[in-house]
Amino acid sequence: MASTRPQPAWLANSVLYQIYPQTFADGNGDGIGDLAGATEKLDHLAWLGVDAVWFSPLFASPFADAGYDVADYLSVAPRYGTNEDLAAFVDAARSRGIRVLLDLVAGHTSDQHPWFREWVDDPADGRYIWNERVGTPAGIWCPVPGRRGGYYQLNFYPCQPALNFGYARQDPGQPWRDPVDAEGPRANRQALRDVMAHWFDLGISGFRVDMAASLVKDDPGHVETARLWAEMREWLDREHPDRALLSEWGDPAVAVPAGFHADFFLHFGRPGLRSLWHTGVGTYDPSWTDTDRYFFDPEGSGGVDTFLREWRRATDAIGVGGGHVALPTSNHDYARLVTGPRTAPMARAAFAFVATWPSLPTIYYGDEIGMRYVEGLPDREGSLLQTTQDRTGSRTPMQWEPGPGAGFSTAPEADFYLPLDPSPERPDVATQRADEGSLLHLVRRLLALRHATPALQPEGSLEVLTEDYPFVYVRGGTHLVVVNPRREPAAATLPSGWDGARGLEVEGVRLDGGRAEASGFSYGIFERP
Ligand code: NOJ
Ligand code: CA
Repeated sequence: MASTRPQPAWLANSVLYQIYPQTFADGNGDGIGDLAGATEKLDHLAWLGVDAVWFSPLFASPFADAGYDVADYLSVAPRYGTNEDLAAFVDAARSRGIRVLLDLVAGHTSDQHPWFREWVDDPADGRYIWNERVGTPAGIWCPVPGRRGGYYQLNFYPCQPALNFGYARQDPGQPWRDPVDAEGPRANRQALRDVMAHWFDLGISGFRVDMAASLVKDDPGHVETARLWAEMREWLDREHPDRALLSEWGDPAVAVPAGFHADFFLHFGRPGLRSLWHTGVGTYDPSWTDTDRYFFDPEGSGGVDTFLREWRRATDAIGVGGGHVALPTSNHDYARLVTGPRTAPMARAAFAFVATWPSLPTIYYGDEIGMRYVEGLPDREGSLLQTTQDRTGSRTPMQWEPGPGAGFSTAPEADFYLPLDPSPERPDVATQRADEGSLLHLVRRLLALRHATPALQPEGSLEVLTEDYPFVYVRGGTHLVVVNPRREPAAATLPSGWDGARGLEVEGVRLDGGRAEASGFSYGIFERP
């Protein structure tokens, strides 16, 4: 069924790029990335072919969770610059055809936010979830540090009190369960709109919404949370139809019909993304029981069947024109593409896949040069969740140049937000720009090809020919893609008509005699003759 909701025209053909502000580029030499530094790198992003950047939170914060603990939604954190610097970034980006998305931490604030500081002393204030009693489910309740006493509910870390969007189910024995349309929850919905509108006025094109599924509590099937976002979407369609909301939900089959323009496939929750990328190194959730095989495994342990099952489930629910699935190369919570046994040369096939799949490709800063997930780093601002969930290694400073400091900052390296990758072989932008054979150049060519080829964009049709090694699919009826991300060669029989197809971007794949012969770690994109 085709969707009747308006869609921002720019989104469908966009390549997104996630900037982790503290480690992207340092403009003032204090060792922490900032807006001035990021502004200087816009030419790189334009050269690469990025259409929109998403900044992880750059708002005022005590940084107990690296900025996902917001103390003022309307002000840029001084360490990143000022609201004027953000406006300047937006203008400079726009002049290069790049849009800017911010991160909306919708489900919680910092315990240093003035809302919380006031709430702890005012029992009439409904902004957070208040439990006067002891003896409720363990783990999620923290003592209120103020006159009202009782407990507040955490949303992630204890320093991140859950904003009150109500409960889907009431219980007379649990009087803190406000209905979703109680005064506190309604005020919070309005507050989210106010925050978004504030930044839209500054030229922001949308938001990635943190923990978007977490808002309404005890919400089986996320029915009430979906209604909340449907209400937000109606407001957006009416007031800001050119702006986009992308959710950190991890279930596009629910999030997009609810109202998001796109939802990310994520490592946690459903298995689609981890069945592609997860090597067993880096952030690992003990609840995952299905990680013994993954497709982009040099040893070839997995087919692409799990991913495809999840993909079809999502796109069937979304419907034609209803919205998108965003496919990240990695992010600040999970290991990078280049992790464990998967080396940078092996990332080439992964990018060939990401650039030709009918999703919204989302490049995590540094993945375009094959930056590594670095193991064994110290915790920084809550990066280390548990020993098995170490996000730190994906947050190291961007490597712009060879040599000391890597062009990230002029500060002494000891003052860097996190240490650089210590490897003498660490990749960098300048070296790769000088080498047409580099991963960086490949990514640039792939994005250019995607932008120039409607068949490769989300609207182009998808026909899957194999669900194993090599993975073979046809886009738009005109473009054949072959991806073999394992060490062992692989071959597939093709339908007629592909012999003699023109190779547009090929490494190690031959079409001959009605077959695709793919050597180890190979990929090919071909145009029908
Ligand atoms: C998800 C974010 O991606 C993560 O970095 C953060 O710690 C939690 N949400 C809490 O906001
Ligand atoms: Ca700085």
